[in-house]
Amino acid sequence: MKPLLSKKTSYFKGASKVPGDKSISHRSLMFGALAVGETIISGLLEGEDVLATAQAMRQMGAEITRGSDGLWRVHGVGLGGLKQPEETLDMGNSGTSTRLLMGVVGGHNIEARFDGDASLTKRPMKRVMDPLSEMGVEFEASEGGRLPLTVKGSAQPLALEYRLPVASAQVKSAIMLAGLNARGTTCVIEEKPTRDHTEKMLKAFGVDVDVETLDDGAQAIKVKGGQDLQPCAIDVPGDPSSAAFPAVAATLIDGAEVRLAGICVNDRRDGVYRALQALGADVRYEHQRIEGGEDVADIVVKGGAPLKGCTLDPVIVPSMIDEFPVFAMAAACAEGTTYMSGLEELRVKESDRLLMVAEGLKACGVNLEMGEDSLTIHGTGQPPKGGARVETALDHRIAMAFLVLGCVSDEPIEIDDGAPIQTSFPNFVKLMNELGAEIEDIK
Ligand code: S3P
Repeated sequence: MKPLLSKKTSYFKGASKVPGDKSISHRSLMFGALAVGETIISGLLEGEDVLATAQAMRQMGAEITRGSDGLWRVHGVGLGGLKQPEETLDMGNSGTSTRLLMGVVGGHNIEARFDGDASLTKRPMKRVMDPLSEMGVEFEASEGGRLPLTVKGSAQPLALEYRLPVASAQVKSAIMLAGLNARGTTCVIEEKPTRDHTEKMLKAFGVDVDVETLDDGAQAIKVKGGQDLQPCAIDVPGDPSSAAFPAVAATLIDGAEVRLAGICVNDRRDGVYRALQALGADVRYEHQRIEGGEDVADIVVKGGAPLKGCTLDPVIVPSMIDEFPVFAMAAACAEGTTYMSGLEELRVKESDRLLMVAEGLKACGVNLEMGEDSLTIHGTGQPPKGGARVETALDHRIAMAFLVLGCVSDEPIEIDDGAPIQTSFPNFVKLMNELGAEIEDIK
């Protein structure tokens, strides 16, 4: 446990570069391992979640090294070439590593056991097991379809057409990754657009991926099995989910101004910035460009704009699925009511995020109502009182969100454990404090 304290600050200024995008980092290691030859990755997020993916790919035969120049080199074994790991794959806190690798292992004639920490072992894996089972993959899972579980893959899974029952890029990706080795074409249909990094990056690795809009507006993503992956160079852009923490802090602090350089602003990821604008925040994109197939921009945020509560259209949810905890901190400081719905997936993230946000905000003096899949926050137009010790339940984003609120609350906010921040944003405290935050260890 690493308790941390965040105190009110009146200064928050500067230019920063947040670490590489977590979703893209995971995929670059996995796909590099499935290509024959050398994939070179710059800007890889060196957080615990991504390191868990690297370790798992090594256990399955890929050679992965980090140079003193900060570049990561992956020598892949080729599609179908992964070897059976001798030891359990320790996924730590990482749902993305687990679910995507269940698909990867599912498409190989190998068996692998997956395990994780106290948060990950509570998370549902049936959503991935169900479609993969239809493809011929076998599982031995703990009660309720949870970790630890063993995946028995198939050298040639059955191609599948599958309509996603939940809006989940992890499920979509697991099916596509197993489908890479299937005979025939695998098709995933999604009604709500989720992050499309798997589709985009497979194309960069030379795989044909077809995306079609169906009559009902859903998208069909098709991949034909048996296509080889060609190694490539990947430049990982900054993570919009991580950038959201300094962006919200800047929004809430009078006179603040921050520039967050080189952030992925893929429209399936940047919902939080549109939601902040809907609250009245001064958030702009500058130098918009395309880098490595992704939309990238410098995000510039100025503090002190008057924030007014708003109702978020649930269509925005998948594009800010990981950003609700920090967005809720901004809503708590806005004047009036902010209503967010369609949030059922927040209950199965690293923690039950709806509950953890609601309880933490209540402890800080915020007036709110939590529904099964909704959150209504009544702000006063002023930061809340704070002065609470907030529980974080092994959830990095809950931890960082409340440390951001502590930058403006009247009294400091403590969190019980900042250790999970290492999973996604190892230099969070340093970067925030360099901008002007006062976040410190509690001895
Ligand atoms: C991710 C997808 C999302 C997101 C997670 C990363 C990915 O999960 O919450 O942090 O990289 O595919 P779901 O697919 O469960 O929504």
